[in-house]
Amino acid sequence: MGSRQAGGGPAPAPPLAEGSELKGPEAGRREPRPAECQARTEFRVSRTCRVPEPRRVRAAVTMCGIFAYMNYRVPRTRKEIFETLIKGLQRLEYRGYDSAGVAIDGHNNEVKERHIQLVKKRGNVKALDEELYKQDSMDLKVEFETHFGIAHTRWATHGVPNAVNSHPQRSDKGNEFVVIHNGIITNYKDLRKFLESKGYEFESETDTETIAKLIKYVFDNRETEDITFSTLVERVIQQLEGAFALVFKSIHYPGEAVATRRGSPLLIGVRSKYKLSTEQIPILYRTRNFENVKNICKTRMKRLDSSTCLHAVGDKAVEFFFASDASAIIEHTNRVIFLEDDDIAAVADGKLSIHRVKRSASDDPSRAIQTLQMELQQIMKGNFSAFMQKEIFEQPESVFNTMRGRVNFETNTVLLGGLKDHLKEIRRCRRLIVIGCGTSYHAAVATRQVLEELTELPVMVELASDFLDRNTPVFRDDVCFFISQSGETADTLLALRYCKDRRALTVGVTNTVGSSISRETDCGVHINAGPEIGVASTKAYTSQFISLVMFGLMMSEDRISLQNRRREIICGLRSLPGLIKEVLSLDEKIHDLALELYTQRSLLVMGRGYNYATCLEGALKIKEITYMHSEGILAGELKHGPLALIDKQMPVIMVIMKDPCFAKCQNALQQVTARQGRPIILCSRDDTESSKFAYKTIELPHTVDCLQGILSVIPLQLLSFHLAVLRGYDVDFPRNLAKSVTVE
Ligand code: G6P
Repeated sequence: MGSRQAGGGPAPAPPLAEGSELKGPEAGRREPRPAECQARTEFRVSRTCRVPEPRRVRAAVTMCGIFAYMNYRVPRTRKEIFETLIKGLQRLEYRGYDSAGVAIDGHNNEVKERHIQLVKKRGNVKALDEELYKQDSMDLKVEFETHFGIAHTRWATHGVPNAVNSHPQRSDKGNEFVVIHNGIITNYKDLRKFLESKGYEFESETDTETIAKLIKYVFDNRETEDITFSTLVERVIQQLEGAFALVFKSIHYPGEAVATRRGSPLLIGVRSKYKLSTEQIPILYRTRNFENVKNICKTRMKRLDSSTCLHAVGDKAVEFFFASDASAIIEHTNRVIFLEDDDIAAVADGKLSIHRVKRSASDDPSRAIQTLQMELQQIMKGNFSAFMQKEIFEQPESVFNTMRGRVNFETNTVLLGGLKDHLKEIRRCRRLIVIGCGTSYHAAVATRQVLEELTELPVMVELASDFLDRNTPVFRDDVCFFISQSGETADTLLALRYCKDRRALTVGVTNTVGSSISRETDCGVHINAGPEIGVASTKAYTSQFISLVMFGLMMSEDRISLQNRRREIICGLRSLPGLIKEVLSLDEKIHDLALELYTQRSLLVMGRGYNYATCLEGALKIKEITYMHSEGILAGELKHGPLALIDKQMPVIMVIMKDPCFAKCQNALQQVTARQGRPIILCSRDDTESSKFAYKTIELPHTVDCLQGILSVIPLQLLSFHLAVLRGYDVDFPRNLAKSVTVE
């Protein structure tokens, strides 16, 4: 982890004008990243690995969810196949949920002819599940010894959410080729124009449909009958610009699967009762000879099989699971292969092979089967009614996991393995720029003051989109932090590439090992909060917060004048998990408060200093999932506008903690009560002063000023959760939002 990668996607290719030919095999390719930069588990890479001129893509995309399942010599009824596909989609639904679809084999006892059956539905995965059982034409009991099914849940980018625009997209009315896609094809208009000029008719508004049509075009124009499925896909992706993870199925290649990616994650899980042929799948390359014959012919592939493919020894039963996210695979197997950009993975006759078009000296010669550490339980709701609720209640453990093995409470030291080799360079820098979006940005706001104090450096905090809009000056001696739970947010990723272009040192703070941000930064910190499924980020926020504080502590280790302060903060970190538990025990009280507030239209959240970020984050939680208007207000700005909103009707939450801003917050409290405001006050347990003026109080345990925001945000997370439930909304899947916003 933390390895550098040549940023961006493919070099822009000339548009395909009408009548023009498709690009040759070398076109549109990006530089692979150096092999020595491919460590996966720690952000620990030397700056010499930096690739000088990363190219930009408009967006790398992981929105939407891909899941596909191949059973080879494992008899499964159609019903079982449906169940597996639907379960896979449900695990991914947090990524996109406005429409969904599957493609399975239509071949059954009644219909002798082979065909692909598509079922697509607007709405969530549950709606698709119901639709599947309404399909009278499909015999659910029919058994397939070998079968390949593909499934997709969508978050619309091109075209409204409806059945036609949802995936799988098809090549033609006969469903000869179907494809599922995560990402954006930036040259789809040119491709569409080209294909239309060749007589291909489009039915959807999606960019993805061009891929389905394009593979049919390549197939229709094949020069030899025995062209392989993976060769077709290889030719297709050479024409694509943008970002994608793709899985293909075709009636011409029954029982075969092809998957590929560029800039969007894709992994393959493998399960077999039998011994597997290898633990390392060697990468196959198109050789000169291959070029001459212009295809990898099936016979050649068969000859290569035993030494170059992954299969169950003795041609025995094996299953493959393809997914954009490990959470969809983990309940089936923890043995996975992560595909790299431009890998083309193909399964034929139960054998998985991976090939690339072009060899590069820095390529890894193989892809290893890795063992996922994730537990199924981590992605299950358990006794909670929503993932968000579960994740709020996980915070005593998640903050502990963030600190585990890093903070030594005996010696008062902090060691972040992914940063230690870069500390000298960071200490010499001109300033720190901390960049993120949404909640991740708030984590930067929350820790700015303590970072300034501990690092004694100027710290800028930036919303990634605005940072880019301003063409903010960035220099070689700047250190730029990129905060992102998913590690895939497009604006943050583009800001990262922008800073890399200007040679600044880039540091990732992400929750997702192997994500684009963790791969493309020079170094960084994994926050280790565990998978976060709820769209509204909760435990990632507190873990990001702690990660940034740990960074500050590490930077100040040698500062004599800061030793007492460091000890105080480290001591505060130690007691945090216990204090979080105390805050969580206020849940019922907060629920009662929600009962009073849930019919309101608006909710203001006010505070300052260390708790300004709490207000921003609390208000974001409320608007994200309750659809109430909510605003985080800096109490210092009260007189400059927000005071006009205050009257006895307007609900106001004030965060007033025993910290250096206490007196100023009292001032704001007076101003609010003087206008008949009835403040609900989040305050310290021993604060008798504020509670005198409160309409209601939520009393919190006290901790060090710079960590108090971790405790004070939790009541607001809980409040937003209860408000959303009382208002009847789906907490985990708020309208119009997605977990990772991977489009600009
Ligand atoms: C989206 C999510 C937010 C999240 C933000 C940044 O807007 O809905 O919950 O805070 O993206 O995501 P990141 O993965 O970069 O932290």
